[in-house]
Amino acid sequence: HAAEAHRTDLMTITRHVLNEQSKHPESRGDFTILLSHIVLGCKFVCSAVSKAGLAKLIGLAGETNVQGEEQKKLDVLSNEVFVKALVSSGRTCILVSEEDEEATFVEPSTRGRYIVAFDPLDGSSNIDCGVSIGTIFGIYLVKDKDNPTLDDVLRPGKHMLAAGYCMYGSSCTLVLSTGNGVNGFTLDPSLGEFILTHPDIKIPKKGKIYSVNEGNAKNWDEATAKYVENCKFPKDGSSPKSLRYIGSMVADVHRTLLYGGIFMYPADKKSPNGKLRVLYEVFPMSYLMEQAGGQAFTGKQRALDLVPNKIHERSPVFLGSYDDVQDIKELYAAGS
Ligand code: AHG
Ligand code: MN
Ligand code: MN
Ligand code: MN
Repeated sequence: HAAEAHRTDLMTITRHVLNEQSKHPESRGDFTILLSHIVLGCKFVCSAVSKAGLAKLIGLAGETNVQGEEQKKLDVLSNEVFVKALVSSGRTCILVSEEDEEATFVEPSTRGRYIVAFDPLDGSSNIDCGVSIGTIFGIYLVKDKDNPTLDDVLRPGKHMLAAGYCMYGSSCTLVLSTGNGVNGFTLDPSLGEFILTHPDIKIPKKGKIYSVNEGNAKNWDEATAKYVENCKFPKDGSSPKSLRYIGSMVADVHRTLLYGGIFMYPADKKSPNGKLRVLYEVFPMSYLMEQAGGQAFTGKQRALDLVPNKIHERSPVFLGSYDDVQDIKELYAAGS
């Protein structure tokens, strides 16, 4: 009967979050409504990504974003879908997107208490060749709903209420934490529902994989160079680590979360703050890693303690298995 019960006792993401929120007596279901709109956006992008090749949705949109990147058609489309879904939820007051130069302040009549920083489509360089891409989001609560300001956003990531990502790969997987651990949900296309498939994800304490763009090795600082050297030529007689680098942060982080190991986008001489953006890449993934028992480091401090000054600010990041990140922290502490 257990199998039968399992098949009919569908633990959807909505039901799971309702259970979580029931622990917060003050919550009035607003978070659940917000999340259902994020889920709607993910379902839309999942369907658009799977049809991209057929629906002439690949290739460039002919615009460039504030990052100086050429926007792909899917970058623009997914951004529009998420902005519209989040505004229409009536639960948001500020939106920060990789694809919009300025933050969006929702007008008072449809304003809610939540702030969402998001990367609508992460790994855009991989769209046209069919490699996994994703959406990343982080959620904050506004301090004063009647006066939302950028100060509500330019805060340390440790103040986030929730964070997650959706990966559009062989299956559509949404990984979420609302502060009580990390859970993974897989989209069942026949139901159009995200079903709990990875309850209470914990990252292995140590891993056998390192993930970094070795093409930047010439410009790395000494601590990063030494750490990567140790991965390839261990001094303690252990076997070398494997290198896995997909080039989509969501895919590299998802593998790191499930298999263990370390994902790095270090500073280099050309980009002293690395490449990844604090609010909608570094913070959400660092939050998830800590919730799963791992850690996240910027080269100088705990990633979630960083205070961003601009909404598109970048930071170096080293995240993953607790022991692996500890090793590189010690190399930076030694001032090597
Ligand atoms: P985005 O597509 O949202 O701009 O993000 C791309 C990021 C991230 O997904 C990935 O980890 C990183 O770019 C890869 O950068 P490199 O190609 O420089 O390694
Ligand atoms: Mn981009
Ligand atoms: Mn990205
Ligand atoms: Mn992006």
